[in-house]
Amino acid sequence: MAQPSASSSASERRQSVRTGVVWDGVRRVLDGAGPEAPQARIVDIGGGTGGFAVSLAELGHAVQVIDPSPDALAALDRRARERGVADRVSGQQGDLADLSVLVDQADLVLCHGVLEMVDDPAASLAAIAGVLRPGGHLSLLVAQRHAAVVARAMAGHFQAARELLDGDGASGATGRGGHRFTHDELCALLGAAGLRPGTVEAVRVFADLVPGSLLDLEPGATAALVELERAVATRPEYLPLAAQLHVIATR
Ligand SMILES: C[S@@+](CC[C@H](N)C(=O)[O-])C[C@H]1O[C@@H](n2cnc3c(N)ncnc32)[C@H](O)[C@@H]1O
Repeated sequence: MAQPSASSSASERRQSVRTGVVWDGVRRVLDGAGPEAPQARIVDIGGGTGGFAVSLAELGHAVQVIDPSPDALAALDRRARERGVADRVSGQQGDLADLSVLVDQADLVLCHGVLEMVDDPAASLAAIAGVLRPGGHLSLLVAQRHAAVVARAMAGHFQAARELLDGDGASGATGRGGHRFTHDELCALLGAAGLRPGTVEAVRVFADLVPGSLLDLEPGATAALVELERAVATRPEYLPLAAQLHVIATR
């Protein structure tokens, strides 16, 4: 995934702020596998239009994207062809619940922004653990509950904020937008699925609060904000402020 530069478009700059910390974590896993394991078998469940999948294929990895949306898969196909990696990216229509049928074995599974939408997050994580090879990794990105409560309240949606406030401790609190998780809920869910969580990182602590115009007009602002997001990602006091939590878990 490209670093922001003066020639990046506004949407590329915003994307780099939102995904910088997550991309760093995924790169650490792949780089840690060493040069003797150059091509990883990666599954991107709910990979959508392939923002991550295509960049991973550009690094030489084989990526299987599974998503229920035919429109997203068509956009993925276009993006992979435009970037010259169609031979390393396969799109498949399917659901997280069908993972064991669709996937043989994976070195790395990406599940970014999907656990919020499933009926049973615990069963979904068990399904992911079932297709990971021993020692394989899950990159999990989920919406964080406390920031979601604050965002709803600030938008005047007080009832929605109240609905999200109390989790049930098992599947995260469920509001209109789906499940929202705390750090402790996330770690408990991963543990129950037989996955060992690494450090949970704070993602998008500031990104959604900074006006887009500031990034568009101020030279160097995007790169400085990416660095600030990186600087707070592993500080526990920023976890409750983060729009999302990212964790690499190991089977
Ligand atoms: C918020 S988007 C995230 C897309 C991508 N992972 C990303 O981070 O940019 C959620 C994606 O999950 C997919 N999705 C929703 N329910 C799903 C399910 N039960 N199993 C697999 N994918 C699902 C949607 O079609 C959509 O592409």
